[in-house]
Amino acid sequence: MGIYFDEDKKIFTIETNHSTYQFLVDEYGNLLHLYYGSNIQGSAEYLLQYRDRGFSGNPSSAGNERTYSMDVLPVELSIWGNGDYRSPAFVVETEDGARGAVFAYASHEIRQGKYRLAGLPAVYTDDAEGSGVQSLEILLNDPVLGLEMRLLYGVLPELDVITRAVTLTNTGKHKVYLEKALSASLDFITGDYDWITFHGRHMMERNVHRTHIDKIGQMIGSRRGASSHQYNPFLIVAEEGTGESTGSCYAMGLVYSGGFQAEAEQDQFGTTRVQMGIQEAGFHYPVAPGETFTTPEVVLAYSGEGTDGLTVKWHDLIRNHMIRDPYKGQPKPVVVNSWEGAYMDINREYILQLAEAGRELGIDMLVVDDGWFGKRNDDNSSLGDWVANESKLSCSLSRLIEDVNAEGLRFGLWLEPEMVSEDSDLYRAHPDWALKLPGRSPVRSRNQLVLDLANDQVKKYVLESICRVLDAGNIEFVKWDFNRSIYEAYSAGADHQGSVLHDYVLGLYEILEQLRSKYPKLLIEGCSGGGGRFDLGMLYYTPQIWTSDNTDPMDRLWIQYGTSFGYPPAAMAAHVTKSPNEHTGRRTPVETRGITAMYGAFGFELDLARMPENEKEAARKQVMDYKRFEQLIREGDYYRLNDPDRENFCGWGFVSKDKRQALVHVVITQIRGNEPVNYLKLKGLKQDAFYTDENTGITYDANLLMSAGLPLPLEHREYRAYRFHFVMEEAQ
Ligand code: DGJ
Repeated sequence: MGIYFDEDKKIFTIETNHSTYQFLVDEYGNLLHLYYGSNIQGSAEYLLQYRDRGFSGNPSSAGNERTYSMDVLPVELSIWGNGDYRSPAFVVETEDGARGAVFAYASHEIRQGKYRLAGLPAVYTDDAEGSGVQSLEILLNDPVLGLEMRLLYGVLPELDVITRAVTLTNTGKHKVYLEKALSASLDFITGDYDWITFHGRHMMERNVHRTHIDKIGQMIGSRRGASSHQYNPFLIVAEEGTGESTGSCYAMGLVYSGGFQAEAEQDQFGTTRVQMGIQEAGFHYPVAPGETFTTPEVVLAYSGEGTDGLTVKWHDLIRNHMIRDPYKGQPKPVVVNSWEGAYMDINREYILQLAEAGRELGIDMLVVDDGWFGKRNDDNSSLGDWVANESKLSCSLSRLIEDVNAEGLRFGLWLEPEMVSEDSDLYRAHPDWALKLPGRSPVRSRNQLVLDLANDQVKKYVLESICRVLDAGNIEFVKWDFNRSIYEAYSAGADHQGSVLHDYVLGLYEILEQLRSKYPKLLIEGCSGGGGRFDLGMLYYTPQIWTSDNTDPMDRLWIQYGTSFGYPPAAMAAHVTKSPNEHTGRRTPVETRGITAMYGAFGFELDLARMPENEKEAARKQVMDYKRFEQLIREGDYYRLNDPDRENFCGWGFVSKDKRQALVHVVITQIRGNEPVNYLKLKGLKQDAFYTDENTGITYDANLLMSAGLPLPLEHREYRAYRFHFVMEEAQ
């Protein structure tokens, strides 16, 4: 396992437990990709075929060698300038508009442990002896422009994970501009592939979409300055025929919270290229002499056992190498959030009643959502003025925190630090601190503007204003919201507008990192109108994210199902809300709302004090059940048990790492007259073992549960939910 370099053949091989990744340095100093897939022993060099192809130019280094064209060969990272007409990963332009750079291999280094990226979140490892984690750094030079490019690779062999990033250092005399700077590309010489992407909208995020990668360039992404509700920076490349439990597939996730793009195309001779990185629209990034630009990281994972196998590894990666202490491997509090119960109509009495009712149900934390500050009675004002509205609350924030704590609940608070309302003291004092075009009135969204986090002064203000709020008392949780997309990325303080969108994201990360070091125990829940910024970058700072503003349990089943391909359930905040649901009007039983919210980081979001007694009783039981199963949900192997689009139910399960227990949840999504019996096939159980259903005492053969399934009850009621807790029988 690890990274090897064959000096004779100039071949790099990165080997994980179940995958091999291989590329070589050729006689012209170009890096040609050879292979990525299940483990191989030898070298895949013979796959490279050289032919004279019309209209595919030859790089000058190859002289008149017409069979050598970068337009045809599989490359490790495509850089515009050497004759590859396919979509490039990197485009460099000089100040006078000369577009193109030509890099050649100079040297490389293989190191123990994982590289780090300055100012950017990335997969981290403990690099202990024996962990097998290694890094490869390849240096490429363009002597004409005086540029050094470093291709970085990290390998976590046990998880079949390879990470990639690129840095570009200007060692020349003139500034250059990056027009495009993707983090990784993958050229597959052979094979036919689909890609699975996740599209959506506000309130209906991460719907699964599978398409064939054809001779049509396909692209997904976000031009919104945030990863977005509309597409997610996570995708799966699946070899044709790959399903849930068989076939080769590759996860590709960008550790970045700003605009991104992912591209897929099959070229004229059948090579499939998939690449991912920062969104190129609006990106025109200067790199002056002496400066270095670093791309965000792309994480790759391989599974030869279909998407289920990929999910198990991917979730382990995020839980252990992306989510950081103190929340790594630790339970999160069960919260009650004030939003859907009262919206902005909150006051001291309401909050204290919520706290009292929360305590009676066993809830750990109360989160005061929007409406507590400035003169915020609707969403038209006050963002930026982070001072408690004492007349509305009838007390100071400090007092409110103390009183909630006295009820026995921990205290959390909603903030939207990246935004400003035009009707705010902050905007009146610093109108140029908002991103907007000079001389024009801005595009508004939720009647608010975005603060310019590319500007140091603004970053300082934002950090200080949050610290002032946090220092008001014992605030242990922040819900960090972001309720619009960025449109006019013009910074009054910037020298170059083409760097603003990326510098904004770096500014956000800087603030979050500083907060983390000042308040190491603070739990931050990410949010962007629900799941508009649900990405690996945010998870590095915010170990859980509000999955969607849509709290209807039926819609949530689909949203959570889609989200689970790229993110572990424990990272998805999910709450029990009232019925009929605010957003869809759908009526659902309280048990179903509970089971659906127990998908991930569990909580409530309704007026607990006025809940009907029978629902209160159910909620009390849900809190107890959740606390009992929390570790299994957080740390177990997660399985999607069916595709909810194909059947009248949606099932999912958590199997402990030692396979001794499995928790299975299922919700009936539709009921028809004379409904056939639905059978739910289990996954991940120990082969040849026996499991007993804790409720009925019936013992089942694990092989049968996984191959034939479990009959689901037939009840003539809508949206019923069921829990099964299976415990493995000890071998005789
Ligand atoms: C959008 C969030 O997703 C909601 O949960 C709530 O916090 C509102 N913002 C508050 O304005």
